[in-house]
Amino acid sequence: MKKLRMEEAAHAILARNDRGGYTVPTDRLYPFQWNWDSAFVAMGFATFNVDRAYRELERLIEGQWDNGMIPHIVFHAPSDTYFPGPDVWGTRHRIPTSGITQPPVFGMALRHVHEAALASGEAGAEVRTRALFQAALRSHRWWLAARDPKGLGLVAILHPWESGSDNSPAWDEALARVPTTTTTTIRRKDTGHVDASMRPRDEDYQRFIHLVDVYRECDWDPTRQWAKAPFKVADVQMTAILARATADLMHLAETFGSEEDRGELAQMHRRLLDGLARRWRLDLSRFVSLDLISGADIEAPTQAGFIPLVAVTLDDGQKSALTAEIERWLDGMVVGVPSAPRFSPAFEPKRYWRGPVWAVINWLIADGLRLNGAEDLARRIEQVTVQAIENAGFCEYFDPTTGEGLGGDTFSWTAAAYLVLGRRR
Ligand code: GLC
Repeated sequence: MKKLRMEEAAHAILARNDRGGYTVPTDRLYPFQWNWDSAFVAMGFATFNVDRAYRELERLIEGQWDNGMIPHIVFHAPSDTYFPGPDVWGTRHRIPTSGITQPPVFGMALRHVHEAALASGEAGAEVRTRALFQAALRSHRWWLAARDPKGLGLVAILHPWESGSDNSPAWDEALARVPTTTTTTIRRKDTGHVDASMRPRDEDYQRFIHLVDVYRECDWDPTRQWAKAPFKVADVQMTAILARATADLMHLAETFGSEEDRGELAQMHRRLLDGLARRWRLDLSRFVSLDLISGADIEAPTQAGFIPLVAVTLDDGQKSALTAEIERWLDGMVVGVPSAPRFSPAFEPKRYWRGPVWAVINWLIADGLRLNGAEDLARRIEQVTVQAIENAGFCEYFDPTTGEGLGGDTFSWTAAAYLVLGRRR
């Protein structure tokens, strides 16, 4: 009964955040279409409205650049409740967009939506999947060319916002090198919507905008940006999501791709898996990202170290180390998996990506655990996530020490996570 009411509430949130075929993450705080939010939201829609699920992905692709990049924000319609808006980014796409990207969950979502379409007999699905498959393939080509020009098998972020874990302690050292000077006047809007203690600090915002200034001055040209970037991190979370999405595209390519597409995807996949394999650290029981400017491993513990589960088949030693480490992070928490563990000096249970729990991160971790045969832990994480939402509502994220719901409320991807994970109970 409760579940039914909650599902109805989740549907109502998605309806309320619908702006005409695309969904804003939440009203006011994030009033446009966000890249990886929409991919998760599409999977949520696929549980009850496959046509609308496709629409979400199609509207995101309206923002895809000619070079293949899918931007992190598509500014379909103006709003003055968010900073930085289109004028600060200064990009040239026909619909205004930001100039950076976000984790490519798109390919995972496409396979998911396509399979829902097959199951429900959705009319016209084949044509829609085919077009979106081509868009996804172009974006994966962009990833490898623009963000792994040296062929490390790891893709780099040039801005913390690309990671999706905007304020993660993983970026602290690399971000500290970025100057706080900006040519853009900063007019933060986020702290007008939610408590400042949950949001990034002003100084971090100056560095975030400094990076935008640098890349805008490169005219958003990937080669120039790569050369000029004062922040360049080969991120295991991003690489793992790309590798997983590549595997999902390989699957779709059996129906929708050419012989060359299949060969190309298989090659990309091998390259990314090899890159990820080199980032495993047995002494830490997780994977670590690489700071491409200092050349140092990023050892700060964050959820990113577990995300390779979605792409990699762990050997027995890795699997038992990694699952034991996740259990250690869950220990004593009301809700897990925290984005940083309590034993980390950076742990702040209420501040954005420095401790709180995100439903979509748990979704990825649970999927990865299941893929690796750790069914019990996967179920435990799914159940904790669903319960957290039932107790605290469809919030942006949760305090792991209390289960309190934080950040924005009526959040689209939290609603989507409920719809998908709630069915697995
Ligand atoms: C924040 C999150 C990012 C998300 C966006 C919209 O910026 O860090 O991952 O995509 O909000 O929900």
